[in-house]
Amino acid sequence: MANLSPSNFFHFIIVFMDLCFLAYSVTHWEDTQALKQFRNGVVNTSVNPGSCLSTWDFTVDPCDSLSTEKFTCGIRCDVVISGISRITELTLDRAGYSGSLDSSSWNLPYLQTLDLTNNFFTGSIPGSFSRLTRLQRLSLSINSLNESIPDSLPDSLEELLLDNNKLQGPVPKTLNRLKTLKRLELQGNQLSGEFPELSQLSSLYFLDVSNNAISGYLPATFPVNLIELAMRNNSLQGNIPANLINNSVYLQVLDLSYNNLTDSLPPELFTHPSLQQITLAYNRFRWIQTPVDWGRNSELIAVDLSNNDIRGSLPGFMGWMPNLSALSLENNKFSGVIPTQYALKAVMQNGLGGVGPFERLLLGGNYLFGLIPGPFLQLKSGSGVMIRLGDNCLYECPASFYFCGGGVQKSLMECKTFTPVIP
Ligand SMILES: *[C@@H]1O[C@H](CO)[C@@H](O)[C@H](O)[C@H]1NC(C)=O
Ligand SMILES: *[C@@H]1O[C@H](CO)[C@@H](O)[C@H](O)[C@H]1NC(C)=O
Ligand SMILES: *[C@@H]1O[C@H](CO)[C@@H](O)[C@H](O)[C@H]1NC(C)=O
Ligand SMILES: *[C@@H]1O[C@H](CO)[C@@H](O)[C@H](O)[C@H]1NC(C)=O
Ligand SMILES: *[C@@H]1O[C@H](CO)[C@@H](O)[C@H](O)[C@H]1NC(C)=O
Ligand SMILES: *[C@@H]1O[C@H](CO)[C@@H](O)[C@H](O)[C@H]1NC(C)=O
Repeated sequence: MANLSPSNFFHFIIVFMDLCFLAYSVTHWEDTQALKQFRNGVVNTSVNPGSCLSTWDFTVDPCDSLSTEKFTCGIRCDVVISGISRITELTLDRAGYSGSLDSSSWNLPYLQTLDLTNNFFTGSIPGSFSRLTRLQRLSLSINSLNESIPDSLPDSLEELLLDNNKLQGPVPKTLNRLKTLKRLELQGNQLSGEFPELSQLSSLYFLDVSNNAISGYLPATFPVNLIELAMRNNSLQGNIPANLINNSVYLQVLDLSYNNLTDSLPPELFTHPSLQQITLAYNRFRWIQTPVDWGRNSELIAVDLSNNDIRGSLPGFMGWMPNLSALSLENNKFSGVIPTQYALKAVMQNGLGGVGPFERLLLGGNYLFGLIPGPFLQLKSGSGVMIRLGDNCLYECPASFYFCGGGVQKSLMECKTFTPVIP
């Protein structure tokens, strides 16, 4: 109390009076009505004895009964205006409830958090959610919602988590209106159509739409402050536009694996100032463009380009990337010899001239030929470096060398058919 300024003190008095009111304040009738309607949409047989909803008893006032054996959980009331409480939070996570959300009018104008994660709700995401004009966090993750995402959602949202349902239809263009959105999770649904331009979402830092059926090309731009982007396992086609990478300057994690992307990997991926992890496995990329600075300024730590259709010699510049520690180029069509720099980067576990070591180097399933670079021969199986050179065209790579694991070398005939220059 000693250092309370007058304005703090005034604030303290208000909070204190509100707390006193809370002890006997009644819930706004509109909120009570909305709770009743929500409760009516929940299937009774899914409300197990002892579960949160089983304590809801509308013969008493919800907000006034929070510390009794009724309404023991699920709601939070902390806006009190002249003795009338407003509900700010409805959270019924992992409770096993089923039913429909549509039967409620969602007249809860003070609600900030609605979290029904991990239940069995089916049907649609009600359009009446748009009445929740103070809602910041909406999580309906892990339910069985199976209609499309409504065009209208509260503009106040900061987190929208609709992942792991059965939502269909497109990702609505109108999500671009949710200008305060920071986190958007739509992964694990059946969303289809093209992914919309969300250029107005300048607060969005996390976007996951993996495991859907999104098709068409990547949008021309992504939200400018994105840090993590995952669109894994969709049906995206076309290339990765260089602009797209350049414009998202804060991007650290990019996962576009399991799509149908093709053409070349833009050099911007390897000159980007923040990218740490790129996962582009299981696409149809065909070649890698070497960046002018050889990736010397790259922050990349992990690069997975496995299971594509990439040809040519191994990208030598990746042996010089300072922070690159895990590289997978497995199951492509690389040929030529293994750069000595790769071997040195794997062997020199204390780093070498500002270039940190490889901890994982997966090169199996290509058409690499020639001798195993000398430095590899120093490596013992307990060295902690994971290396796979199997299933290539190397001159001698017996299984007695642990790094030759991952399959026996291809037959000379297969190798010569692919690349006649093999000696
Ligand atoms: C479900 O339970 C509520 C509260 O216990 C009760 O009022 C309502 O009649 C029940 N509905 C059905 C369909 O049994
Ligand atoms: C969603 O599921 C409900 C209940 O299982 C079903 O009646 C409805 O037809 C489904 N809607 C769609 C669009 O599949
Ligand atoms: C891709 O998503 C589908 C369903 O959307 C799932 O069944 C499949 O296992 C996923 N594949 C991968 C490789 O993640
Ligand atoms: C990928 O593209 C090819 C050629 O355009 C097409 O035949 C194939 O069906 C596509 N695969 C997927 C999963 O979209
Ligand atoms: C991306 O940025 C780099 C470095 O600022 C620049 O050299 C390159 O031309 C840019 N690429 C595109 C496609 O704008
Ligand atoms: C990359 O390596 C440099 C020098 O070792 C280090 O200062 C920097 O923090 C590393 N970047 C990341 C993203 O780990």
